[in-house]
Amino acid sequence: MSFDFIELSEALECSFTSRVALRPVALSDAWPLFAATRNPAFNRHLSWAQPENEELVLKRVRLIMDASRRGRLTALSAVRRSTGEFIALFRFIPHATLNDTVEMGVWMHDKFWHGRYGLELGQLCVSGAFSLSNVSRLLGASTLDNRGSFHLMKAVGMTEGGLVERDFEIGRLTLREFTITRAEWAARHATAFSVFDDGRVSQHLPPSRATVPLEVPVVAMELSAGAPVTVTDELQHA
Ligand SMILES: CC(C)(COP(=O)(O)OP(=O)(O)OC[C@H]1O[C@@H](n2cnc3c(N)ncnc32)[C@H](O)[C@@H]1OP(=O)(O)O)[C@@H](O)C(=O)NCCC(=O)NCCS
Repeated sequence: MSFDFIELSEALECSFTSRVALRPVALSDAWPLFAATRNPAFNRHLSWAQPENEELVLKRVRLIMDASRRGRLTALSAVRRSTGEFIALFRFIPHATLNDTVEMGVWMHDKFWHGRYGLELGQLCVSGAFSLSNVSRLLGASTLDNRGSFHLMKAVGMTEGGLVERDFEIGRLTLREFTITRAEWAARHATAFSVFDDGRVSQHLPPSRATVPLEVPVVAMELSAGAPVTVTDELQHA
């Protein structure tokens, strides 16, 4: 399956919820992101060490911006609609080995933890990806003690899968994978969100669910033509 990350980026840039809007990642996001990394709990479950200075985060954000522009991944910043304040950086990246799968990941500013922003953002991104692209399967992977991420992934309708080991900047980590297929999303996890399209806001109101969903991180997938898409350590996420 071929996947167009630029197309997904452009579609999601026009997506929003009642409290959250998505926009392209900007270098200025590095400062609130760096501030978030001052909280050890932010880094505990991530695949990179706590940055010692702002320059390290600026470099990481620049790499993400560049990869997004080149269509190697989709990276979007979630901001408060009312103020434009940075909430989180959400990414869809190619899965290292599964051609039909895009991996998701999120870095959320600690100011917004436990405010159901993760759920709102996750629902938006999952629904947006399935509604606005041809992706057939989304995957999230978290370290084994990351109860918040596990909870969030289940809440957005993902199913717990197996364990995998991956090499990151900080070493080899064991991760638990969660997935959701297009068919599963359509059957039990479609969520409402709005898209600003052709100058008009159109409401997407999928079928109601029996249970309340939650959300998760960013993505990956592989282009069908040419060499497999890869991301460097700095572009990976836990
Ligand atoms: C994990 C994280 C993304 C969740 O986002 P959030 O906006 O705080 O979550 P929400 O408020 O939308 O809550 C969603 C659900 O997850 C649960 N949850 C959130 N954080 C949790 C935690 N640390 N432990 C257990 N459950 C948690 C909430 O109770 C809620 O479930 P409920 O509807 O059954 O009550 C966010 O807290 C975060 O980034 N934490 C930093 C540490 C981390 O795990 N980073 C890597 C993310 S992959």
